[in-house]
Amino acid sequence: MRRTWKLVFLSLLAVGVGVVWRSEPARAQLFRELNNTREFFNDLAEGREPWQVMCVAAGVTLMAASLVSWIFQDDVDSLGTRIKKTIFHWVRKIPFVKVKVKEEMEKAKEGLGKSFMKEIRGEVVRAELPAEGVARAELLGELDSLGKDGEKDWGKGGVSGGLYNCSEDLTDLNTEVYRRFLWSNPLHPAVFPNIRKMEAEVVRWCCRLFNGGAESCGTMTSGGTESIMLAMRVYRDIGYERGIKFPEIMIPLTAHAAFTKAADYYRMKVTRVKMDPLTCQVDVGAMERAISNNTVVVVGSVPPFPHGVADPIQEIARVARKHGVGLHVDCCLGGFLAVFMEKAGFPIDPFDFRVDGVTSISADTHKYGYCPKGTSVVLYANQELRHRQYFVETNWPGGLYASAITAGSRPGSLIAATWATMLHFGVDGYVELTKKVVDTTRWIVSQLRNIPGIHVMGNPTMSVFAIIGSEEINIYHLNDAMAKRGWSLNALQLPPALHMCVTVVTTKEGVAEKFVSDVKECVVKLRKEPGSSTEGSAFMYGASQAVVDRRIVAEMAWIFLDLCYTSK
Ligand SMILES: *Cc1c(COP(=O)(O)O)cnc(C)c1O
Ligand SMILES: *[C@@H]1O[C@H](CO)[C@@H](O)[C@H](O)[C@H]1NC(C)=O
Ligand SMILES: *[C@@H]1O[C@H](CO)[C@@H](O)[C@H](O)[C@H]1NC(C)=O
Ligand SMILES: *[C@@H]1O[C@H](CO)[C@@H](O)[C@H](O)[C@H]1NC(C)=O
Repeated sequence: MRRTWKLVFLSLLAVGVGVVWRSEPARAQLFRELNNTREFFNDLAEGREPWQVMCVAAGVTLMAASLVSWIFQDDVDSLGTRIKKTIFHWVRKIPFVKVKVKEEMEKAKEGLGKSFMKEIRGEVVRAELPAEGVARAELLGELDSLGKDGEKDWGKGGVSGGLYNCSEDLTDLNTEVYRRFLWSNPLHPAVFPNIRKMEAEVVRWCCRLFNGGAESCGTMTSGGTESIMLAMRVYRDIGYERGIKFPEIMIPLTAHAAFTKAADYYRMKVTRVKMDPLTCQVDVGAMERAISNNTVVVVGSVPPFPHGVADPIQEIARVARKHGVGLHVDCCLGGFLAVFMEKAGFPIDPFDFRVDGVTSISADTHKYGYCPKGTSVVLYANQELRHRQYFVETNWPGGLYASAITAGSRPGSLIAATWATMLHFGVDGYVELTKKVVDTTRWIVSQLRNIPGIHVMGNPTMSVFAIIGSEEINIYHLNDAMAKRGWSLNALQLPPALHMCVTVVTTKEGVAEKFVSDVKECVVKLRKEPGSSTEGSAFMYGASQAVVDRRIVAEMAWIFLDLCYTSK
C-alpha cells in the first residue's frame, strides 16, 4: 500500500517538474520564486553569527528527519490511527479537558461502585488473611449465608448464555470427578498418565467431530480466548518465517474480541472487515480487497457472538486458498451445536475441515459442550501448525521445559471433567440437546418477527439472535426494561442492538414463552413512553458511543475492572 502511494507521489512530482520546465513563463516564475526564497533566508540570517545559523539548520534538519521517520515508521498502527492517538494525547493535556475527564470518571466510579457493592451479600469482610484458620463448619456456614452464585437467575433461565448447566446428574457426576482428580497436574504426564490419555482422547474426538483428516490434531486450552490466541500466534510465526515484519490478521467486524486481544499481545496488525448490514455476515468481497502481502490468516465465525449468523466459510476459504493464507474458523460459541446440527435435522453450510482451506478451528467445550468452565480445544489441519504452538526452553537450569499451551501447571480435574461430560452425553445426547436449543431459538425468533418496532438481525444460524430497535424503540431502553423483569441480556453496539443466547436452561418449560411475552409487553409500553437514558445500559452505551476518544471509554472500563478487585 505504502509503496503504491510513493509511486503515485513520485510520478505526480515528475509530471509537475516536466510541465514547469517546458513552459518559458513558468520557468521564469520558478526562478523568481527560488530567488525570493534565497533572499528570504538571507534576510533571516542577516546579522546572525555563523554558529547560530548552523545550529538552527541542524535543529531544523533533525526535526524534519524525525517527523519523516515518525510518518514512515513500521508500526502495527496505521498513520491515521497514530495521528489520531497523538492528537487525543495532546488534547487530554489541556487543563480544562483534564478536569472535565476527571470529573466524569469520578461520576462513573461512584455510579458503578454503588451498583456493585449492592450485589455483595456477605456480612464478613476480611481485609487480610486471619492468623488462625477458620473451622470447616464455620466456613461452610458462611458460604450458606452467601447463597449459591447466580442462584436468583439460574432456575428461571433469565440469563443470556454465560451458564451452560443442564442437569442435576451432570452436576453430581462432575463433582465426583473433581474430587478424584483435584490434585492432578498434566504438566507432569509421567506422574498423571491417565489425565494425559484423557486429554489425548478429547482432542481426537473433537478432530473427528470437526471432520479433520488423519493429520489433524490439537490441544485442550483454558477457554476460547486462549484457543484463539494460540492459533493467532501460530500464524504470526508463519508470517515471520516468510519475512513479514508485522503479520496481519484479517477478521470480520463481528469476530470475537479475543482476536484483537491476540493482536495486542503478539504485536500483530488487525484489519476488520465490515459486515453486510442485512445478512450480518462478513462481506467477503471487501475481505478479499483488503488482503495484503502481510496478511497471514483470515477468520470466519460459526457463529459470531454478536448476531449469531454464521459467516460463509466456503467463500472465505476460496479467498484463503487463492492468497495462500491460513483460515481460522472460530467455533468457540457454537461449535458443539454446529457439529450436531445435521444429525439434529437442521441443514448447515459446511464450516469444518471438510472445507478445503480451513487450517484451524477453535471450539469451546465449556459452552455447548456442557463441560466445566475453563475448557476449550484448538484444532489444526496438520502437525506442522501445532508445532508452532509449542514452547520449548532448552537452556534453563530447571531442566528442559516443554509446554503446549500458555499455562505451565494446570488443573487435570478440568480435563477429567471434560472427558467425563463428553462421554456422559455421547453423540446422541448432544444431538438431543442441539435439537432443543435450536428449536427453542427458532420459535422465539419467529415470534419476535411479528412484534412491530423491533427487528431480528439477519437469519440466526443456531442459538444466538440479535434484535435491533427502530425510530420508536431505543433498544437499550428495551434492555433495561427487560432487566427489570429479571432478564440478563447482552447489549451490543455499532449498531446498537440486543442479543440473547439460548441455552438448555432457556428450553425449560415456559421460559421462551415468558421471554416473548415480556419483550412484547415492554415494546408496547416503550412505544407509548420511552425509557430513561440517564441510567442502565442506555446511559452506559449512549455515553460511550458519543465519546470520540475511545481511550477514555477504555479508562472507564478500567474503573469497572478495578471495582471487580475491590472487596470493601
Ligand atoms: C465465547 C466466545 C469466544 C471465547 O471466549 P471465552 O470466554 O474465552 O471462552 C470466542 N469466540 C466466540 C464467538 C465466543 O462466543
Ligand atoms: C534576485 O533578486 C534580486 C532582487 O531581489 C536581484 O537583484 C537579482 O538579480 C536576482 N537574481 C536573479 C538570478 O534573478
Ligand atoms: C442447573 O443446575 C442446577 C443445580 O444442579 C439444577 O438444580 C437445575 O435444575 C439445572 N438447570 C437445568 C435447566 O437443568
Ligand atoms: C504481493 O507480492 C507479489 C510479489 O511480490 C505481487 O505480485 C502482488 O501483487 C502483491 N500483492 C499485493 C496484494 O500487494
